[in-house]
Amino acid sequence: MSNGGRMKSILEVSNLTVGYYEDIDILTKINLKVEEGKMVAIIGPNGAGKSTLLKSIFGLLRPRNGNVVFDGQDITGHSASDIIQRGIGYTPQMRALFPQMTVRENLEMGAWVIKKDREKVASCVDRLFKEFPVLEENQDMRATFLSGGQARMLEIAKSLVLSPKMLLIDEPSAGLMPSLCTNVYERLKKMNNDGVSILLVDQRIREAVEIADYVYMISVGANAAEGSGTYFKENLEKILHESLFG
Ligand SMILES: Nc1ncnc2c1ncn2[C@@H]1O[C@H](COP(=O)(O)OP(=O)(O)OP(=O)(O)O)[C@@H](O)[C@H]1O
Ligand SMILES: [Mg+2]
Repeated sequence: MSNGGRMKSILEVSNLTVGYYEDIDILTKINLKVEEGKMVAIIGPNGAGKSTLLKSIFGLLRPRNGNVVFDGQDITGHSASDIIQRGIGYTPQMRALFPQMTVRENLEMGAWVIKKDREKVASCVDRLFKEFPVLEENQDMRATFLSGGQARMLEIAKSLVLSPKMLLIDEPSAGLMPSLCTNVYERLKKMNNDGVSILLVDQRIREAVEIADYVYMISVGANAAEGSGTYFKENLEKILHESLFG
């Protein structure tokens, strides 16, 4: 490696402070980075601010302070549509499908930032179908008729329509039965092996720590612990205890 063995960061969040209402900060001076091609997990208790952090990176909330650098460019305060076009995909925690639209139409919505270019949208969706044959088979079905697992797969696929360099994904397996969870994690792993950097928020701590190269734990909107996936796996009880109750 030319830079003395150090990996390039694709995402760097520094001193990020964010809130929904005036005077109340939900995140306080959060720091994290994702090296190119890695999978990084954010864990932490309910209400810690994990979803708020992803929303802030993706431009859905304007930071009060601090900054977000993606691929060498400062994107702090940029709009979500700008951020998508720079190569970040986002799968929200809350269900985000249009139930009365077909599978294909839902995927097309994932390309709304380039919607004027119909041909490109169609070719992006067709390319995606190669990776998600189940969605291709059901492309004319209304989303409301999909099973829970297929619906989550569609939501993930929707955030991949524009071939992002990086995916922000919030609770990918929440509400899914165990066999489908495995399926989702395998897909994330494969995507990551194919070169997509991933920032994963997950309440399934054991699965997240297992799959991630590096882990950040946040608690009450602040950095509480961090380390390699292996370090977390081997010291999980201790880390959880110290950072939450210590
Ligand atoms: N739209 C909103 N408006 C106001 N406050 C919000 C909003 N969304 C979240 N909050 C508050 O921000 C804090 C962090 O919430 P957030 O959803 O980021 O936590 P989380 O770590 O993702 O939790 P969970 O594990 O339950 O998904 C909570 O106190 C929550 O009540
Ligand atoms: Mg959340």
